[in-house]
Amino acid sequence: MTKHCFIKTYGCQMNDRDSEIIEQLLAQIGYITVADMNDADLVVLNTCSIRAKAEQKVYSLLGQLRPNKERNPKMRIVVAGCVAQQEGNKLIRKMPHVDIVVGTQQVYRIPELLEAIERGESKRGLALDLSSDFEIPPYQQFAPVVSPTPVNKSTEPQIKKFVTIMQGCNNYCSYCVVPATRGREISRPVRDILEEVQLLISKGVKEVTLLGQNVNSYGKTNQVAEEPVDFAGLLRQVAALEGLKRLRFTTSNPKDLSEELMRCFAELDVLCPHFHLPVQSGSNRVLKLMNRKYTVESYLEKVDTLRSYRPDIALATDIIVGHPGETDEDFEETMELLEKVRFHGSFSFKYSDRPGTRSSEFSDKIDEKVKSTRLARFQKRQDEIGLERNQEFVGTVVEVMVEKVENGDGRGRNPTNHLVHFPANDTLRPGDFVSVAVEHAGKHSLRGIIKK
Ligand code: SAH
Ligand code: SF4
Ligand code: F3S
Repeated sequence: MTKHCFIKTYGCQMNDRDSEIIEQLLAQIGYITVADMNDADLVVLNTCSIRAKAEQKVYSLLGQLRPNKERNPKMRIVVAGCVAQQEGNKLIRKMPHVDIVVGTQQVYRIPELLEAIERGESKRGLALDLSSDFEIPPYQQFAPVVSPTPVNKSTEPQIKKFVTIMQGCNNYCSYCVVPATRGREISRPVRDILEEVQLLISKGVKEVTLLGQNVNSYGKTNQVAEEPVDFAGLLRQVAALEGLKRLRFTTSNPKDLSEELMRCFAELDVLCPHFHLPVQSGSNRVLKLMNRKYTVESYLEKVDTLRSYRPDIALATDIIVGHPGETDEDFEETMELLEKVRFHGSFSFKYSDRPGTRSSEFSDKIDEKVKSTRLARFQKRQDEIGLERNQEFVGTVVEVMVEKVENGDGRGRNPTNHLVHFPANDTLRPGDFVSVAVEHAGKHSLRGIIKK
């Protein structure tokens, strides 16, 4: 009998990648994914805890699942990801309808824990271990699990893939829950990463994004390699793989951004001119409170250097408004930074208290209304700048990797990761490359025609 599973993913690309692994592990024990949670025998919530809102979403969905479970006691509910890591014991205690809770480094155990329950050997499953500083990296957690065609979703070939190059984070930014939920920083061995990318290329993948919470510090901790390789070195080796068309990475703490890495943007053709470099605040005082370990001046200097190496580089960032202690003047400095850099895009958030973080202990919290006003102002200005940035493409020709063609409309992305629409016929396939002359720029995308 076929069993149906439904996987809901919250949060970042690390979780997207982990969900892909979960989907494949479940496929190996006979589950196929369904689109409707109500049709599922097994519901997996891969959760995010970065802000309070993200966590609340999980609890609200768990609430909705309670009647489903009452109707169908055989249904299984698994909670994975960062909320599971953070709240594991509490979840098991307070949510009797949750069957299994696995932490961020324990997703591999889902099938085994499920089967133990089905066989009646255990009633519920809980696995929260995180590797510590001195432990041997758990290789098996990174075993390349590759699905060139998605298990159930569609027959479209996959042309873009994420590859996790490291887990955890050692930075302890004052506001951030990730070091607690993802554990210590561990770099995967170079050889494993190269093998995984190679395998993806052989299955038709054209674009790879290397993933880590702070890829810039790749190789600094616990790397098992004959010769230590830093992130720039890794990029060079991945870029050299035959058949790879586009290479990206995310995400980077500016404090660890080396000259050598910036030079890669000038030297590696496949490395896309697109850089997500979260700055968080434009005030040195706030950056210090955040424990970010760089200054606005050093950030701006890096922006200049990056642009000198690759004038067409598109920069994106993350901003937190209303960190405890952020004054009106501090916020104005963030607005000034926005004017100076003119980011192509940004993700901006209201500061949110997270359990166990240093910022949550600070006393000078900012009023919600003030945070909302600051956020709205930042976002309005960013939207205007983003549009102006997009308009800079009008009249240029961009190379687009086709992602979909539907009813005469083609879409794909250019090297700077902008979405580009163009009229196309069905002979174009995902993964094809076309030159598009850009005629129009909107807030969220560009539009043009294929240049013969
Ligand atoms: N490793 C990345 C960030 C990962 S978290 C880096 O160092 O830049 C993604 C983003 O969520 C962060 O860049 C930050 O802007 C935001 N974020 C993290 N903790 C937050 C909190 N407590 N409140 C609001 N936003 C937060
Ligand atoms: Fe969080 Fe800072 Fe680590 Fe990014 S670098 S994941 S913001 S602690
Ligand atoms: Fe969220 Fe965990 Fe990613 S907290 S942003 S899912 S590392």
